[in-house]
Amino acid sequence: MKGSTLAMNKNKFVYTAFLAIAFAATFSACKDKRSTGLEYARNMYDPIAYNPDQPNKNFKDGKTAQLPPAHTKPVGFTEYDEYPNTKEGYEAAGVSMVNPLPVDTVNLAQGKHLFTVFCSPCHGDKGDGQGHLVKIEKFSGVPAYQTGSSSRGGNMVDLTAGKIYHTITYGVNNMGSHASQISPTDRWKVVMYVQQLQKGQ
Ligand code: HEC
Repeated sequence: MKGSTLAMNKNKFVYTAFLAIAFAATFSACKDKRSTGLEYARNMYDPIAYNPDQPNKNFKDGKTAQLPPAHTKPVGFTEYDEYPNTKEGYEAAGVSMVNPLPVDTVNLAQGKHLFTVFCSPCHGDKGDGQGHLVKIEKFSGVPAYQTGSSSRGGNMVDLTAGKIYHTITYGVNNMGSHASQISPTDRWKVVMYVQQLQKGQ
């Protein structure tokens, strides 16, 4: 009996002490309106690493956010500078770019899948330019791969792999660039599938 009373008193003491500390911590911020008061785990406010917008005396210009050194590129980045987003770049790509992937059922199946996701809303499943967005009249002027003509000259059926790749990468007029959605390798799979559609297959 005596033991349990003692235990209860001890609990009360811990509880009261806790309340007192919490009270003090809460109201310690009140004396000065600009003070943040007592801060728990200060390191969580000021991380050891530099924030990008923080001054930094380790660099000549005193900034933390530095530009990457010249002529470096991120891992996995494929350069496409030799075929710029110009009529000349498009023509050059059309002449020199060759699909590096073998034409097989796996690549074609993946190309078809990507085409269905990214292109068919405008171009239609068969590439006839009658996608859903065209049917509900949200979009127009989508040329059929088999019978249409390219706004850059020639028939759609004659577009080479490089021209299709260039178009996916940069877009053309009302068609946006798909470079951020489709990786370079996947673009070639889509090209492969578009070339099948050109033949009406
Ligand atoms: C938002 C609708 C839209 C989407 C999505 C779209 N396109 Fe297009 N595409 C167009 C339009 C419109 C044109 C005609 C643009 C022009 O020449 O003025 C076009 C033109 C083209 C051309 C012909 C380019 C040329 O040289 O004349 C190709 C090839 C093509 N698209 C492939 C694709 C592929 C592959 C995808 C999917 C990765 C795709 N498009 C997604 C609307 C779209």
